[in-house]
Amino acid sequence: MTAGDATPPGPPPPLAAAGEPDLDDLRLLLDTVHDRSGLDFRGYAYSSLRRRVAQAVTEAGAGSVSGLHQQLKADPRLLADLVRTLTVHTTAMFRDPGFFRVFREKIVPVLRTYPFIRIWIAGCSTGQEVYSLAILLREEGLRERVRIYATDVSEVVLDQARAGIFPLSAMQEYSRNYQLAGGQVPFPNYFTADSESVVFRRELRDSVVFGTHNLVSDASFNEFHVILCRNVMIYFRKELQERAHGLFYDSLVTYGYLGLGRSETVLFTARAAAYDPLDGRERIFRKVK
Ligand SMILES: C[S@@+](CC[C@H](N)C(=O)[O-])C[C@H]1O[C@@H](n2cnc3c(N)ncnc32)[C@H](O)[C@@H]1O
Repeated sequence: MTAGDATPPGPPPPLAAAGEPDLDDLRLLLDTVHDRSGLDFRGYAYSSLRRRVAQAVTEAGAGSVSGLHQQLKADPRLLADLVRTLTVHTTAMFRDPGFFRVFREKIVPVLRTYPFIRIWIAGCSTGQEVYSLAILLREEGLRERVRIYATDVSEVVLDQARAGIFPLSAMQEYSRNYQLAGGQVPFPNYFTADSESVVFRRELRDSVVFGTHNLVSDASFNEFHVILCRNVMIYFRKELQERAHGLFYDSLVTYGYLGLGRSETVLFTARAAAYDPLDGRERIFRKVK
């Protein structure tokens, strides 16, 4: 509340009164999205979904969630826009630089002892996290021994990830993150720039396989030494988080590492006892049984 705000303190208004979608209408809309796209948002956290659906209602000028639902049923072309609005793709290179510093200092020395290393980045969005890890592993001399499997539910972001083209305007932030993450060379060594965008060096992708994988419905597809799933499960409700953690547990070798986002944890899930924390702040866990 600002100094001049005259609103008296008290309980917040009901969500519907504050312009938030009604839960029943939201569920009906998500049923139709699932039927039409195969994408199931019904296990995602309501708080974020409601905000995004409210945004979609405004953008479509639909007036209400049921209005948006009617529009969608009448015009299937609206589906792609709606799915885009419902999904959060925010990412950055060397996001939370401390995470990559800990990776370099505590995980790389162990990976060095392995003849071959498989890493899964689940929910890789437009690929910034993938290129960050590829750069780090290259600098640590592990390039020849590593394969990174980078997956996301969205084909659109995967296409961008494959291209490795990012806006020039983001490079100052990415370069600062890279330095804070323990980067070893001038950051521009890794890309060529034009007036609006930068293209990351092709060879960074040599060790990467991009593909679709849906954490809601798909199964384990390999056994990994490291799994990163950062800032993805924060959008899931408890049940779906449990599913994803089951999948990660089944897909990690014993003593493999699980890296999560800053507000995510494996503690308080059914798999908690199977992991030891490697770094509490950076949310890195090691599977111990
Ligand atoms: C906020 S981004 C996180 C990107 C990156 N991991 C990071 O931390 O910067 C979340 C990504 O998760 C993906 N995602 C959402 N639901 C998913 C699902 N069911 N299966 C796989 N990926 C999903 C989204 O498409 C999006 O690209």
